[in-house]
Amino acid sequence: MTKPPKTNAASLKESAIFFKNALLKPKEVGYILPSSRYLIRRIAEVAELASKKHAVELGPGTGGTTRGFLTALPADGKLIAIDVNEQFILHLQKDIHDPRLILCHDSAERLPEILQESGWPHCDVVISGIPFSTLPDGIGQAVMQSIYDSLCDGGTFVAYQLRDHVSRLATPIFGQPVFKKKEVRNFPPMRLFVWQK
Ligand SMILES: C[S@@+](CC[C@H](N)C(=O)[O-])C[C@H]1O[C@@H](n2cnc3c(N)ncnc32)[C@H](O)[C@@H]1O
Repeated sequence: MTKPPKTNAASLKESAIFFKNALLKPKEVGYILPSSRYLIRRIAEVAELASKKHAVELGPGTGGTTRGFLTALPADGKLIAIDVNEQFILHLQKDIHDPRLILCHDSAERLPEILQESGWPHCDVVISGIPFSTLPDGIGQAVMQSIYDSLCDGGTFVAYQLRDHVSRLATPIFGQPVFKKKEVRNFPPMRLFVWQK
């Protein structure tokens, strides 16, 4: 199952891996530091993970969010975590040993195919930290459509973002967000959005 909280040295090492990859791939990683525990807790709450069986995380990075989401999920819940960055996936494979976690080195646009390959007809919730404002042209729209197509009716899409560019992509498909708030106990402060299908 999920490991206990990290020691300071382990957290520092994880932040260093994140920072290095943020410098190498700034548009893909988006920020220079992983999410704070306050932001992670807030995301798990608004996503109502405690009652979800089939959850998806887009952009787990070095896994602080992933560990938080696994803690919140029920014992019979499952989490598929998808990241385009191979270094992050290799780190997660070594670091998190939880039978409820399925790791995929892939791109979020392929979410419907990934669910199909995993034998999931749909998912209950998608949580995304992908920096939508810096994705190449067309990719953001494709990812958004994939998220919508993959969610069950009534399913939840949660995005935590520096900017509100994600609204321009999500609102035409999902309608207005059902929740919108800024979490200031994170560097940088992060906007949280929730849409319902
Ligand atoms: C801001 S980081 C979030 C990391 C982590 N969840 C956190 O909050 O600390 C964004 C992540 O999205 C990933 N990413 C960017 N574009 C992606 C795509 N098209 N498909 C899947 N992951 C992507 C990056 O590699 C990175 O790990």
